Amino acid sequence: MSLRIKNKELEILIPESNIKSRLKSLADEIRKEMNKNEEIIAIGILKGSFIFFADLVRELGSNIKIDFVVVSSYFDKMESSQNIVFKKDIEVDIKGKNVLLIDDIIDTGRTLKALVEYFQKKNPKNLKTCVLLDKKERREVNYDADFVGFEIPDKFVVGYGLDWGEEGRTLKDIYFVK
Ligand code: PRP
Repeated sequence: MSLRIKNKELEILIPESNIKSRLKSLADEIRKEMNKNEEIIAIGILKGSFIFFADLVRELGSNIKIDFVVVSSYFDKMESSQNIVFKKDIEVDIKGKNVLLIDDIIDTGRTLKALVEYFQKKNPKNLKTCVLLDKKERREVNYDADFVGFEIPDKFVVGYGLDWGEEGRTLKDIYFVK
């Protein structure tokens, strides 16, 4: 029996084993660039990032503090700018700190760009962004994440934290909807 959500068939895009091995090399890249032994404040953008976040921070090793944001965003056409509404903001002080913003996917780029602008105002020492998946073709703003796990085509993806109408987040592999 094939795996289905909302009666649509799912096909594997990235198996769990590929995600696991990519996470190790991604963590190495991040540690190399973000001062090997200094503390990193890892900020996860919920909900989609929760599994990627939990796996990546453990690969990053020691000296990590964590926090999360929950945002909803709307695009203000009058001002041509992105407005982020926080349902939950961070609780730690990031002034003078190394900060790594972690999300599951970058699509239009609006969420990450707006959050980077918001967090830069808090004067971190260093602010980097990391996403597991990058749908480059879909970009609407001029922003790329600093660290990317996989570039993927413009397909609807679920699993490993990503949902389709809140279904599919706990699947271990990443699938696309056929
Ligand atoms: C997704 C994803 C990113 C954002 C990326 O979140 O987790 O945060 O969209 O899109 P963008 O690059 O076009 O801004 P979603 O709103 O689906 O919420 P969720 O994380 O709770 O699933």
